[in-house]
Amino acid sequence: MGNLLVLGDSDIHDILINLSRAQILNFSDALLQCLRSYSVGAERQYQPAPGVINRPEGQKCLFRPFTSPDSVGTKIVITPAPTSKAAGALRGIVTMCDADGIPSGILNAEEVTGYRTALIALIPYLWRNYTENIVIFGAGKQALWHLRLALALRGDEIRSIIIVNRTVSRAEALLAKVREENSTRWKSAATMQAIDPSRSDYQECLKGHLSVADAIFCTVGSTEPLFPASYVLNDGRKRQPYVSAVGSWQPDMIELDPELIHQTVKGITSGSRAGSVLADDRKYVVEHSGEFARSKIGAEHVVEIGEVGNLQNSETNKKPLENWMKDGLLVYKSVGVGLTDLAASNAIMAIAKERQLGTTVSHF
Ligand SMILES: NC(=O)c1ccc[n+]([C@@H]2O[C@H](COP(=O)([O-])OP(=O)(O)OC[C@H]3O[C@@H](n4cnc5c(N)ncnc54)[C@H](OP(=O)(O)O)[C@@H]3O)[C@@H](O)[C@H]2O)c1
Repeated sequence: MGNLLVLGDSDIHDILINLSRAQILNFSDALLQCLRSYSVGAERQYQPAPGVINRPEGQKCLFRPFTSPDSVGTKIVITPAPTSKAAGALRGIVTMCDADGIPSGILNAEEVTGYRTALIALIPYLWRNYTENIVIFGAGKQALWHLRLALALRGDEIRSIIIVNRTVSRAEALLAKVREENSTRWKSAATMQAIDPSRSDYQECLKGHLSVADAIFCTVGSTEPLFPASYVLNDGRKRQPYVSAVGSWQPDMIELDPELIHQTVKGITSGSRAGSVLADDRKYVVEHSGEFARSKIGAEHVVEIGEVGNLQNSETNKKPLENWMKDGLLVYKSVGVGLTDLAASNAIMAIAKERQLGTTVSHF
């Protein structure tokens, strides 16, 4: 029998929102280490496949099991049916045991998922030379954490943030929240604005913002591409953007125009993996995202984030890879890696124990 730590959403939020820049970078290093152990270490073979069930009632149920030398567990996340009163947020639970199966933790999965997904999407963002102009699609938990983390990590370099969301009132509410947090926490001078998709000049306005965006974060469970590739790929632009897409994780979901994927991989040069599409999990991104289902781009054009460190060491001419990471058209597609839930949950539980947060059930 062991001591089981139970952490609710507000305790987890309190831990994550109060991390300093240095602590966020430590957290992101822990996630990167975990992705390396998955991509170039031995861990991939010890991860059971996730399970997805789409129920006739409309819920999408995701079961993500994970194992490591020290912990074993699973995360369950439900996207409620559109007709549910709970629609509009993902909900679920993470359960953790130690290596002997002794239960060690139960965590509400909402903040864990929001944070780990956004922080991993910001790893390539940290490689970039420029981040003056940001466009974020979506106004849910993912958009919120992408925005918070971008402000916490590079707030002094950001000049403009544009939020694009189907429901503009939700985007305005998200901005009000972030403006308030920014005024006391990160103190970025960036301007923040929401764009209403129902305005008559929406396409023109969106094109204008995307044509100068340095980072485009897509966080929408959409079934149609969020913008035409041509809005991003115009010859006249001064700098290429970093584009991340974490929202679609089933073949019928898509955020990025397949043409953007095609044009990205055209940049692959011989002797280097520069110009590939970056992913958290090559196999699942290729098999489960609408972007790959529709573009028919194969796994050979994908590099996992966890492989990049090894490529940096192994490529003879390091320039193309370096230029691509810092200044090239860099596209990241995420469907989630269960092992990162383990790493994030362990990191959160360690801080909670230090700060004596949560409820401990003794002799569970
Ligand atoms: N890659 C990963 O590891 C990972 C991890 C967590 C979540 N996700 C995915 O990321 C997405 C966002 O998660 P979240 O927690 O932020 O969810 P959320 O709080 O429910 O927000 C969903 C956002 O997507 C928009 N949206 C949903 N369906 C849409 C559609 N058909 N067309 C246009 N906009 C649509 C919503 O707009 P409205 O405000 O107008 O409703 C809202 O802005 C979800 O699809 C989720 O499954 C991926």
